[in-house]
Amino acid sequence: MREKATVLGQELLGTTFQNPILLAAGTCGFGEEVSEVMELDRLGGIVTKSVTLEPRAGNPAPRVGEFRAGMVNSVGLANPGAESVRRDRLPWLRDRVRKARVLVSVAGHTPDEFLEVVSILDDADGFLGFEINLSCPNDTRRGGLPFALDPGEAARVMQGVRARTERPLLAKLAPNTPDFGPVVEAVQDAGADGITLVNTLPGLVLDPETGEPIIGAGAGGMSGPALRAVGVHAVWRASHHARVPLVGVGGVARGTDAIQYLLAGASLVQVGSASFWDPRSAGRVVKWLEEYVGRHAVENVSKLVGTARLPGSRGTPQEADD
Ligand code: FUM
Repeated sequence: MREKATVLGQELLGTTFQNPILLAAGTCGFGEEVSEVMELDRLGGIVTKSVTLEPRAGNPAPRVGEFRAGMVNSVGLANPGAESVRRDRLPWLRDRVRKARVLVSVAGHTPDEFLEVVSILDDADGFLGFEINLSCPNDTRRGGLPFALDPGEAARVMQGVRARTERPLLAKLAPNTPDFGPVVEAVQDAGADGITLVNTLPGLVLDPETGEPIIGAGAGGMSGPALRAVGVHAVWRASHHARVPLVGVGGVARGTDAIQYLLAGASLVQVGSASFWDPRSAGRVVKWLEEYVGRHAVENVSKLVGTARLPGSRGTPQEADD
């Protein structure tokens, strides 16, 4: 799978991503859904919708609502379940996606559910590795907060899945993490090969006329432009603790947004809700990056990673110490 890296190529997770731009989980189904409107093989990769052990019908409609600063969603991890994904979805990805790297997102209510999903999918073809969704704000952990908000629980999930697969594993973290150090260290010690930051931020948008929420489930996950500063900050904070590559996501719609994530320390960048507004957004971000690296005579995009120029080089003096 390893190919010679071009100027946009990124070598990580044991392979070459032809460029650093991926579609985020939940924005492209299992690829087929968006293949009519965009060429997936122009991208660095895609992350599938999160897969759970059993099929899930998802939350009541409407599942997505817009407001001035972005959107709020509560899909409830609707998906056909692991057996169906293995039988009906992965073969399409194997046959039709050649250059973009595919990561399968995995979710569950319990640590055992994650490792059962991984066990069912692991020896199938059509994908590179797994993104372990520890941070869905809508439906992740029975009776509790998302796994990502408890470093011990996050590590338990990662240890379990690490024991079931040799494929690359990303851990996807939450934006409302009070301190990224403990959870970053916990998931990488438990075997994560990379860390994705951030999932959506818990949010509630009310219709002032009716007093009701604009989405069926009530509260949901907020994304869009307002999430970008949160995501870039999270990547930068995580970079103080990470020994593994970081993947940035949140509010990316333009090339300049992706550059911010690279500068903050991300090696790959995912495009999320911008794809709902325009499914071609991610392709346009790739084109813009090509233009940027040419204009700045950047030898390879990896040279930009972690080069943000903050006061005290890595942040304020006391932040740099922790
Ligand atoms: O509701 C949902 O399916 C959201 C998933 C996520 O943000 O991970």
